[in-house]
Amino acid sequence: MGGMSLDSLRLTRPDDWHLHLRDGPALATSVPHSARVFARAVAMPNLDPPVTDVAAALAYRRRILDALPAEPPYREFQPLMTLYLRDSTPAKEIRAAAEDDTIIGIKYYPAGATTGSAKGVKDLKKLLPRLELMEELDLPLLLHGEVTDPATDIFDREARFIDQVLAPLRERLPRLRMVLEHITTLDAVDFIRQAGMETAATITVHHLLFNRSHLLSGGIRPHLYCLPVLKRERHRQALVEAATGGEPRFFLGTDSAPHPRGQKESGCGCAGIYSAAAAIELYAQVFEAAGALAKLEAFAAWHGADFYRLPRNRSTIELQRQEWRMPESFAFGEDTVVPIQAGESIPWRLKQEAGDDHG
Ligand code: NCD
Ligand code: ZN
Repeated sequence: MGGMSLDSLRLTRPDDWHLHLRDGPALATSVPHSARVFARAVAMPNLDPPVTDVAAALAYRRRILDALPAEPPYREFQPLMTLYLRDSTPAKEIRAAAEDDTIIGIKYYPAGATTGSAKGVKDLKKLLPRLELMEELDLPLLLHGEVTDPATDIFDREARFIDQVLAPLRERLPRLRMVLEHITTLDAVDFIRQAGMETAATITVHHLLFNRSHLLSGGIRPHLYCLPVLKRERHRQALVEAATGGEPRFFLGTDSAPHPRGQKESGCGCAGIYSAAAAIELYAQVFEAAGALAKLEAFAAWHGADFYRLPRNRSTIELQRQEWRMPESFAFGEDTVVPIQAGESIPWRLKQEAGDDHG
């Protein structure tokens, strides 16, 4: 793009391949924020109780759809569902998931790794027959890639997971499609690059914008705390290179994860950054800073659909260079949620198009 400065940017309507929408009254905030811009989003199943079977996933999908505003583009939003893998997940649920078009994959949380993962998998080896079945049925596995051994330093948990769990699994089940979610390290970028066609990764906008010093600059910043935790600057730079480089097995997944303000601003604040209110706008900011705005469309709208073997969206969105200020908070059920970049100025704005037929 060499110094050229664009004032508006039209791209294929993007998809969010990793999103937390929560449930109940919170859906009234979370769903419109994502549906204003994304055509599809993979809805994570770490609710309480977790979404562990197809019937629960379809009921959750219905609750998400019921929270959509009636007008376009919102009403075209398609939540793609995942099942929360448990030690006890029966083969028949795997089969039922593979047969249902609205279910896109199975989500693996190591027990205790993150918010809502207490009921996750304790020993993946015991689940090998289930994973073999997924390979046979071509049903993707979405992984939270961190070991949970408390003796492993929290900044090393992703790299350790790749060595100890993911690499052996990749060899054992070469045709299983796997997505390493919300990658945070150079180690993950390197692994994905050499792992072949069946392995991909999502990258959040907060891991592209921030490093671990931001989390602790001038004080502890609970709204920048997420899992996997922010890493060193050289890791952030590797992620920016991977996201903006046009490589097909890296794609957009916000991991937008709202929590009530009081649970973040606490003596033990929980993990999760709320980015849905400005996700595509902030990705545009990152791509522009990297001199790669022309690569945003492929990362945000093509690579994920191609990997999941879904059609690319036909409708488009327009981003305009027009500064706006992120609100300090949003209503969130009975509570409030503090978004990423609260109160800060954001250079790109989504143009709201009346009558957008969404394709
Ligand atoms: C997520 C959440 O709050 O559900 N939190 C986070 O920090 N990313 C869980 C997750 O994806 O790890
Ligand atoms: Zn997540």
